[in-house]
Amino acid sequence: VADSKTTVSILGASGYTGGELLRILLQHPGVEVVGATSQQFAGEFLHKAHPNLRGRTQLKFVARNELPAADVVFTCVPHGAGMAAVPPLLERGSRVVDLSADFRLRDAATYQEWYGVPHAAPDLLSKAVYGLPEIHREAIRGARLVSGVGCTATATNLALYPLAKAGLLTTGPVVADIKIGSSASGMDATVASIHAERSRTIRLYAPTGHRHVAEVDQVLRLAGSTAPVHYSAHAVELVRGILATCHVFLSRPDVTEKDLWKAYRAAYGTEPFVRLVKERSGLHRFPDPKLVAGSNYADVGFELEEGTNRAVAVCAIDNLVKGAAGSAVQCMNLMLGLDETAGLMQIPLHPV
Ligand SMILES: NC(=O)c1ccc[n+]([C@@H]2O[C@H](COP(=O)([O-])OP(=O)(O)OC[C@H]3O[C@@H](n4cnc5c(N)ncnc54)[C@H](OP(=O)(O)O)[C@@H]3O)[C@@H](O)[C@H]2O)c1
Repeated sequence: VADSKTTVSILGASGYTGGELLRILLQHPGVEVVGATSQQFAGEFLHKAHPNLRGRTQLKFVARNELPAADVVFTCVPHGAGMAAVPPLLERGSRVVDLSADFRLRDAATYQEWYGVPHAAPDLLSKAVYGLPEIHREAIRGARLVSGVGCTATATNLALYPLAKAGLLTTGPVVADIKIGSSASGMDATVASIHAERSRTIRLYAPTGHRHVAEVDQVLRLAGSTAPVHYSAHAVELVRGILATCHVFLSRPDVTEKDLWKAYRAAYGTEPFVRLVKERSGLHRFPDPKLVAGSNYADVGFELEEGTNRAVAVCAIDNLVKGAAGSAVQCMNLMLGLDETAGLMQIPLHPV
């Protein structure tokens, strides 16, 4: 390992977010990947699980208990496993970005309410920072433990945050309609992932009660919103991608389109990975997950309904990048004082 490079390792590297982290980190100029675990693939080359990495690394998976020490560890494991894995990693001096849901919520009781089990490391919750750089950049810089983000929560938060910050969400309610690609549920096969079931579907799977609502509430409340957020999520014919279409009833009837531009520009004017997409004509007038595939971009747009106080706020992301591994690397860059965009400037594919 070159002296100047930071070492990173990944717990749970055979899954979809682990694979995406490897794709990004193997091209990152400032880090060296020194370890990647998989119980099922221990001893095998990484390309056995991630064939897109063929020819790009000679690293092999190691068993979970053989994870090499590293400056930064990413934990890409199911919720429940994150809170068990993180404390010993912090104790041995690593900085940690935990992509599971275990360190996203600040309150242990809220965690138990949504995830059905008591939190195993409640003392760490106040020390963890929610890993969405657009909103918590300064806190992430100094953190030793940063959570990943929920993918649907990220699309919803980025669509709504400018409105919350501008004081336009005070009355509510807000209804977020989410479309979600199949990779968001990870590699574990279920009956819902059988091709015959998943293909060509628009299946409403969480009309109410989606866990990511808790993350959206937490972020928007901190931004000053008191509006209740309601969620409905659909599984659609995509491998990668989330589209959050949020129906908002603004706090004032006299809000103009110009006010909305002002709010969105104020929130995202200098953000490297948020693009405002709102064209007057043409096919691609609004954000579309197809147009951010493989990239760390979040495309955000909005429209005001004439004669009413309803606005529609939209965000499209690639769930595996901005909704998981990309945001996690952006956080790592901030934690290490590196260029925030390092390793993350891939242009999305088009057509795909
Ligand atoms: N998919 C997404 O779009 C997305 C977005 C944001 C956040 N997340 C979150 O990120 C985490 C990983 O998601 P994923 O989609 O990558 O899941 P996945 O494809 O199912 O992969 C899970 C990985 O965890 C390993 N693993 C399972 N149990 C473990 C344990 N107890 N200890 C250590 N390793 C364990 C598995 O490998 P071995 O069994 O081979 O060791 C596998 O590599 C989840 O908490 C998920 O909620 C996912």
